[in-house]
Amino acid sequence: MRTLTGITPSGTLHIGNYFGAMRPAIDAQSRGDCFYFIADYHSMTSVTDAAERRAHTLGIAIDWLACGLDPKTSVFWRQSDVPEVCELTWLIGSLTPMGLLERAHSYKDKTAKGISPNFGLFAYPVLMAADILLYDTQRVPVGRDQRQHLEMTRDIAIKFNETYGETFVVPDAEIREEVAVIPGLDGQKMSKSYGNTIEIFGDEKALRKKIMGIKMDSRTPAEPKPDADQNMAIQLLKFFAPADVALDYENRLRAGGLGYGDLKKALFEQYWTYFAAARARRAELVANVDYVEQVLREGAQRARATASVVSKRARKACGLE
Ligand code: TRP
Repeated sequence: MRTLTGITPSGTLHIGNYFGAMRPAIDAQSRGDCFYFIADYHSMTSVTDAAERRAHTLGIAIDWLACGLDPKTSVFWRQSDVPEVCELTWLIGSLTPMGLLERAHSYKDKTAKGISPNFGLFAYPVLMAADILLYDTQRVPVGRDQRQHLEMTRDIAIKFNETYGETFVVPDAEIREEVAVIPGLDGQKMSKSYGNTIEIFGDEKALRKKIMGIKMDSRTPAEPKPDADQNMAIQLLKFFAPADVALDYENRLRAGGLGYGDLKKALFEQYWTYFAAARARRAELVANVDYVEQVLREGAQRARATASVVSKRARKACGLE
């Protein structure tokens, strides 16, 4: 079963990204045949600074490798290293109805916000469909916000197959249900747009300050807290600490006698320990950027081995060869 997903090269990753998307993708590697790429072409519509794009692409590659993406097991590459995807965008785009693209939420949301749309933004779902179809993908694990894009991909694949004969595998979306909503520093869902994130990697002092700054209520340490399971620090602790340790803190908070300061200190320690190995790997990778570049180049070669077969099949189907 071929699984593929694109990783947007946005700035700093937080623990919401980690538990929501990265961990499931990294765990899926044991089931084999995973294709993961950094969607740098997609970033063209939002980033117009070359140095920034380059830095984000490399940064995200480093972060994923540090967190356990194994470039031997998985095919891991930079989207733009296989430019065939742009040709395929044209081939399938020529069969994509305007109406379909006009109904895209991502496009409608941006224009509703007053962002003046360009061709790239409008064509974004076609490029995403090309990403998926170019690799004979069967399964695409994505968040809810990408469901419509996957439906469009299926529509486009079916239409192409009807028009030119069986060419593309029609993929299935695997919508990641929010198994666990990771609470942010303010108790809302953790999201960069709410400014309530805890980063995976960052400065120890600043992160300690963030965690110690989590707002709690004004009950005294001695008071029993029957709602201990609702406590944000407890909820976060459950992601990082061994189950028995987290449960022990929860019980102590419920019984009374555990102060919020001590609880947050424990949370910080557990969080910091949880990412210790990844942090060490990341430091090695940062000091060895040539290796990271090489990983991406080799990944692109492997990706291209599949892409060139599918690309040829598509070109032949529509009479370009
Ligand atoms: N658009 C996706 C996102 O914003 C990223 C992406 C690009 C992608 N191409 C893809 C995801 C292909 C899955 C398959 O998250």
